[in-house]
Amino acid sequence: MNRTTVDAPSEKIADAAHNIDDLFRTRWSPRAFADRPVEPEKIQRMLEAARWTMSSYNEQPWRYVVATKDDDAAYEAVLNCLIEGNQEWARLAPVLMMSFVKTTFDRNDEDNRCAEHDVGAASAALTFQATSMGLYVHQMAGIRPEVACETFDVPDDVEPMAGLAIGYLGDPERLPEGRRAGERRPRSRAPLSDFVFGADGWGASADLVSS
Ligand SMILES: Cc1cc2nc3c(=O)[nH]c(=O)nc-3n(C[C@H](O)[C@H](O)[C@H](O)COP(=O)(O)O)c2cc1C
Repeated sequence: MNRTTVDAPSEKIADAAHNIDDLFRTRWSPRAFADRPVEPEKIQRMLEAARWTMSSYNEQPWRYVVATKDDDAAYEAVLNCLIEGNQEWARLAPVLMMSFVKTTFDRNDEDNRCAEHDVGAASAALTFQATSMGLYVHQMAGIRPEVACETFDVPDDVEPMAGLAIGYLGDPERLPEGRRAGERRPRSRAPLSDFVFGADGWGASADLVSS
């Protein structure tokens, strides 16, 4: 095992109703990142975890652009693809990525209905690999797709999907004041009974989860 002790604050650790792996309990999406670079080997390991994700027809429709703070121009290029509200805090992260989806199958150029699903799965794998190494990932839908397409010369059958801010956990005091409370707010989720249904009718909780 090469799992690093996780430094998640207690209010961010999931109050799970069932016994789940600590990876899932301790992962959360911070905005305050520490001023500490991420080791290149760990970036490689995150991307390697994404690489081994399952995908429809093994099409592997995920693409990533990656930039670290030690390459100013590359870092600014990715940062500029985020909406302003995300740039405000994501600029603390030492690593920025942008995920993209190839929307058509390599095999026949037809639409790949599950391509976005598979990119999400790859980014989840990347994220949990990060958690296992003491790192944090904050994904962002708030991007400027047209800027990303132009900046990175994205082909027609590829679409920008999400930004990813990655790094070690930082002090919430590093954030603008209005962002600090959210950084300390406990994580919450709807119960299983809200989204796990039995086969006899939409919206009726499955017996397995209704208690
Ligand atoms: C695909 C995706 C897009 C997201 N977009 C944003 C975003 O643009 N800005 C932001 O601050 N957080 C964003 N988030 C973070 C979510 O708000 C966060 O995951 C959610 O509130 C649950 O919190 P947790 O990840 O700490 O458990 C996004 C998360 C995902 C997975």
